[in-house]
Amino acid sequence: MTKKNFPAGFLWGASTASHQVEGDTNNQWSAWETATANSRASGKHSALAKLANWPNIKDQVADPANYISGKGVQHYDRFTEDFDLLQQLNLNSLRFGIEWARIEPAEGEWDQAEIDHYKKYILELRQRGIEPILNIWHWTNPIWFEQRGGFAKRKNLVYFEKFVTKLSQELLSDVGYVLTINEANNYMTFSYLLGSWPPQKHNPVTAMRVYYNLMLAHRICYKVIKADHPNILIGAAHQATANVALNPHNPLLRGLAKLSDYFWDEWFYDRINDSQDFVGMNFYFINYIGMKGLQNPSEPLNDLGWYMEPSAIYKVLMRLSKRYNKPIMITENGVADADDKFRQWWIEETIKALQQARADGADVIGYMHWSLLDNFEWAYGWWPKFGLIAVDRANGMKRTVRSSAKWYAAKIKSLQ
Ligand code: BGC
Repeated sequence: MTKKNFPAGFLWGASTASHQVEGDTNNQWSAWETATANSRASGKHSALAKLANWPNIKDQVADPANYISGKGVQHYDRFTEDFDLLQQLNLNSLRFGIEWARIEPAEGEWDQAEIDHYKKYILELRQRGIEPILNIWHWTNPIWFEQRGGFAKRKNLVYFEKFVTKLSQELLSDVGYVLTINEANNYMTFSYLLGSWPPQKHNPVTAMRVYYNLMLAHRICYKVIKADHPNILIGAAHQATANVALNPHNPLLRGLAKLSDYFWDEWFYDRINDSQDFVGMNFYFINYIGMKGLQNPSEPLNDLGWYMEPSAIYKVLMRLSKRYNKPIMITENGVADADDKFRQWWIEETIKALQQARADGADVIGYMHWSLLDNFEWAYGWWPKFGLIAVDRANGMKRTVRSSAKWYAAKIKSLQ
């Protein structure tokens, strides 16, 4: 395998999401954070207390401020500085989000200043030779939309369609790639089935409805955007997981692994396949399925306690490549690692796996590492650190490029 196994123009990038970095967002998540920060800080944290790094995180876990996205990492104001860093890291692309609630703060009211902000954002990327990969929806809704029932009601898709139409008219003239919906599977699970994210529902029927409606929302994006911009390439940032039988000779376990693949990611991809130009996938997990359920090895674990086997991305790439026969973009992939102990290894293993998958016929077109910057990790808050660039929120939001990021920068230079 030659180093040139990555073609010129391969997208080497990083990922962010508006709510997790911008600061001062006003949506159903920020409202929920304020309403629940105290109770969540004082709640029981038995799962987290089992983590090896519990002594380092326990004060933050018990601090209500940990649960408030607040000023974010001020990416909204400091994006040009962050783009300079991106350029220094030899990255040629950025996957980023836009915040619906900024653009349409009340139903049918468009905020032109916010639209212009994102226009400038895209222009500044272009001026640095960085390919903008725009993600439309990443779990946050304007409060007015949430109050009408959000994606649990099919009739609300008309609001989403109006927003996407506006977006298509105003913001996409200089964009080559669009991602539509981020991880509909995780959102429906945590917001509507397990009830740990807003709006904290525990209803399997509603969860299925939300999942179905988000699939329709993807299709709406495709239809609307392609009519205006036939050349834009469109995919979803869906979470794809490697499910494998702990004992590969056991047909029952193999069957369960296949079923898990189907219900976790293929159900959605199958239904959008005539409306996706490439398969977008976020990869974090491998699940070893045994007779006792999930039986992953006990190490190595990242700071969130997630078992790490980065090379398992190969299995997912080959599976999705065979099933859909389309280009694949890795739209997220990374590791919670405050001490930067594992990140370089993780990226190195991942790049090897991408190389192998390409050699074996998977048309992998890009890799967006999660994340460019340390960011707000949803219900966990601020303590998990996913950034190539560390951000010290207590000291003027100082940015520091982590060693693993410098290694990544040198590596991709050698591959280009
Ligand atoms: C989400 C990101 C999140 C990351 C790490 C993905 O599921 O799309 O928003 O930060 O995982 O947990």
